[in-house]
Formats: sequence, C-alpha cells, structure tokens
Amino acid sequence: MSQVLQNIKKQASLLSKRIVLPEGEDKRVVAAAAQAAKEKLASVILLGSIAEIEKNNPDADLTGVTVIDPVTNDKTDEYAAILFEARKGKINKKTGLPEYADIAAAKAGILKDYTMYAALMLKAGDADGLVSGACHSTANTLRPGLQVIKTAPGIKTVSSSFVMIAPDCGNKYLPDGVAVFADCAINIEPDAQQIADIAISSAETAKTIAGIEPRVAMLSFSTKGSGNDDKYFKSVPKMQEATRLAKEAAPDLILDGEFQFDAAVAPEVGKLKAPGSTVAGNANVFIFPNINAGNIGYKIAQRFGGFLALGPICQGFAKPINDLSRGCSTEDVIAVIAITALQAK
Ligand SMILES: CC(C)(COP(=O)(O)OP(=O)(O)OC[C@H]1O[C@@H](n2cnc3c(N)ncnc32)[C@H](O)[C@@H]1OP(=O)(O)O)[C@@H](O)C(=O)NCCC(=O)NCCS
Repeated sequence: MSQVLQNIKKQASLLSKRIVLPEGEDKRVVAAAAQAAKEKLASVILLGSIAEIEKNNPDADLTGVTVIDPVTNDKTDEYAAILFEARKGKINKKTGLPEYADIAAAKAGILKDYTMYAALMLKAGDADGLVSGACHSTANTLRPGLQVIKTAPGIKTVSSSFVMIAPDCGNKYLPDGVAVFADCAINIEPDAQQIADIAISSAETAKTIAGIEPRVAMLSFSTKGSGNDDKYFKSVPKMQEATRLAKEAAPDLILDGEFQFDAAVAPEVGKLKAPGSTVAGNANVFIFPNINAGNIGYKIAQRFGGFLALGPICQGFAKPINDLSRGCSTEDVIAVIAITALQAK
C-alpha cells in the first residue's frame, strides 16, 4: 500500500465520520463495509435489507456496520419530503413533466434509487459522506448529489481529480512523488469559470487528500501566450481567463498559467518561458483544458510512467460524494471510504 494511502487511512481513523454505502446488493461493498468498520476507518452505514445482505454474504462480519433498510426506516417519509421540496419546479428532461408530482412520487423514487436515498441522508445531516458506483454508472451515481447536495460555498462546479503517486518515491520533476491531475473524468468541455473552480477544488484535494502544498499549473499547448488556437477551439484564451478568475477568487493560492507541461515541471524550461513565475518549473497540481487532455494525460503517466492513479476523487460538492469504478475491488472501496471520510472533515 502506498504511503499516501496509509496516511489517508490513518487520518480517517481519527475522524469517525459516518459514510453511507447505498449498494448493499454488491458483495464487494459489503466486504468493504465490514473491513472498514473493523479498521475503524469510518462509522459505516450500509443500505439494504439486513436479511438479504446476510443471506448473500454469509461470511461477512458486520459488527460495527449500521444497516438501514429504506423500506422500513421511519425516516424515509422525511427524506421523501426533503426531495420533493428540493426539486420543486424541476422538469424531467425525458418526460417533460415535473420530476416528482408529489411527496408520494418522491418516496417511490427514493425506494427505487438508493443513491438518491443516501444523498438525502447527507442532506438531512444523517451521514457525512457517500460512496457509490460499484454497480451504478457515473451519471447515476453523481446525479443525486448534483441535484440535492449541490456545490460547496464559492464553487459552482463539481469536478474530479486523480492523486498521482510516482514510482520510486518521485523523480527530478516531482521530488515529493505526489501530484494532482484534474479534471480527467467529469466535466467534458469546461469553460473558463468551470476550469477556475476545478483549479481551486483540486488545490483543496491536494492539501486534504494528497497531503501536499499545492502549486497549481493551468496547462495548455501554449506558455504565456506563445501559441494560439483562435481559429479552432480558443483554448489558450480560455486557460488565460481561467487563470485570471482563479487568482481573483483565491488570491492566496499559488497558481499560474497558461503553461505547457514542460514549462510547468522543468525548472530550466520554466525560467526560460515564464520568467518570474512562482509556479513554472515546480508545479504539483495540473489543470487540463478539457476531459480529452486530462483523461489521456493521466493514463500516459499511469501506463508509461508507472504512476499509481488514486481516483477519480470527486470535489466541489457541499458534502463529499465519491464514485467507484464498476470494476473496483473491495480494497478500492475501502480506500474510497477513507478518502471520503477525510473530505468530510
Ligand atoms: C456529471 C454528469 C453525470 C452530469 O450529467 P446529467 O445528470 O445528465 O447532468 P444534467 O445536465 O442533467 O444536470 C443535472 C443537474 O446537475 C447539475 N450539474 C451537472 N453537472 C454539474 C457539475 N459538473 N457541477 C455542478 N452541477 C452540475 C445541473 O446544473 C443540473 O442541476 P438542476 O437539475 O438542479 O438544474 C455528466 O456531466 C457526465 O456524464 N459527465 C461525464 C462522465 C463520464 O462519462 N465520465 C467518464 C469517466 S472516465
């Protein structure tokens, strides 16, 4: 296990945060709930029928795990009322009708969608963080949070980042051995304001989860105006504007751009192309112009560079929600429970 993950687990175990796992039907999730409770990484809440969970997981020791069955829980009506109120006036894109006609419709909805049920537990203050996605798509995992939890103060965009852990504890471009890449998984073609939000949230993830002091580079194929793509995507002015907006919103953050990747990480290139910049040549948080660049970039570091990619870690929610990969292992779920607990602090 990487040192970064060990630190995350150690810190999570000091917090006793209540983390809700809505996918009681998934064996990996049940095993992770049992193990996380045993390691005291969080106060784990599992959603589902206790009889079903025990029948399907006869070897799981659920000591310390709270199992809540939405069908019988006496708070279900309260959650339905919260959902109805939160989504009043919202129209379902597919049907053109109101999302929920009344509280009874909202109740029927949450009894079919336990991720929404878990999001309402967060909203009601009955849980501190949510981990789902072992058997649901990213969109179905994030949508309840986007609809009812919304964003953290000062942030309008939910985004994601990867904590990238270098092999051999680092190299000459990354002496601490840890970097943050964003957004590689959620926002497809973010505008300047969204990129500024992604940068600010990623700096927070760098501090809270990666345990590093962020130095944020806004990436491009251009350094300080050396190139332009005015005829095509206008991504250079977008990153310049995002840099300006992020600096304005977070004046204490060490952040600069736009930079080519080498100007961001190599001191000799940084000095030449961006003289006087506090970030050029020693960045450790990297903000990509869109999901294509971010997703391709983190996979190059992972496959060619041997980096371990921890994530995607969701950021920017008012209360933490994380999306698992459907190919996740029990160990992955345990790690995400610990990460979510740290975000809840
Ligand atoms: C995140 C995602 C799932 C949202 O999709 P969606 O549910 O169809 O989004 P919608 O446009 O219907 O928006 C639903 C609500 O969420 C809000 N929202 C959507 N994306 C948001 C974001 N990034 N930040 C904050 N709010 C967001 C909308 O404003 C809307 O709010 P409202 O209903 O209260 O008005 C979508 O952007 C997505 O699929 N991204 C790519 C994910 C992916 O495929 N990743 C691959 C991983 S490698």
